[in-house]
Amino acid sequence: MTGSQAARVAAAHASLRDRVGAPVEAGIILGTGLGGLADRLAEPTAVPYGEIAGFPVSTAPGHAGRLVTGRLFGRRVALMQGRLHLYEGWSARDIALPVYLLARLGAARLIVTNAAGALDPDLAPGAVMLIEDHLNFTGANPLTGPDEPDLGPRFPDLSRAYDPALREAALRAAEAAGVPLRRGIYAAVAGPSLETSAERRFLRAAGGSAVGMSTVIEVIAAAHAGLPVLGLSAISNAAAGGPDQAPDSIEEILANAATAGAAIAALLQRLFAGA
Ligand code: HPA
Repeated sequence: MTGSQAARVAAAHASLRDRVGAPVEAGIILGTGLGGLADRLAEPTAVPYGEIAGFPVSTAPGHAGRLVTGRLFGRRVALMQGRLHLYEGWSARDIALPVYLLARLGAARLIVTNAAGALDPDLAPGAVMLIEDHLNFTGANPLTGPDEPDLGPRFPDLSRAYDPALREAALRAAEAAGVPLRRGIYAAVAGPSLETSAERRFLRAAGGSAVGMSTVIEVIAAAHAGLPVLGLSAISNAAAGGPDQAPDSIEEILANAATAGAAIAALLQRLFAGA
């Protein structure tokens, strides 16, 4: 895909704006196995990615590939049901495109969810982790390339990439909803192979609490676009890389992500009620 990111965003927006209705308050990107949240939308309008000009079409398991707008727990949202990953061959710039599009649709904050393996042995599969910060070990960055001042600054600050006020609000909402919420650091790798046990121990030693193959590219784009981010990980498998490390299966990952996904829905319901 060639051309400036700003031109791509404008083309995608122009192809879509008549179909999505009123501006949205928040953008949401759903991770592996978490697409069920889209079923909770009232008055939904779905646009397949293939019908959005210049949009990459995701192929990952558990990802539907459509942008759905509607009301989630009373708030107007635009939800990406199906995210894009580096491991599918998309560039970091491709993966960032939906973030700028969500901002164009009016989103004043971005909620990102993902499935992640627990590097921290105290994080149980099925649990939910509030992302406090990330480690980008993908080797990719969506802002590599020509400066595009229309989209954001050349050197965006990431010291508050996961918005402190949104984190506080999420912790309060989780408590009110009775959802146990652990705080942690999300370590991102490119995939698609899962990590070796040595790599997992390395990521843990580097400060990671959970590991996954997404999210950080979108969060960098959101910081660039000035969008505050709330990040939630669905802990889908034990990934501490110890001597008892079991092989991971995608079936197990999807099942545990769905368990955590129900808790994430309950948390968001509370958050939206109070926000
Ligand atoms: N590693 C990387 N990505 C993942 C994992 C994991 O263990 N679980 C879910 N996504």
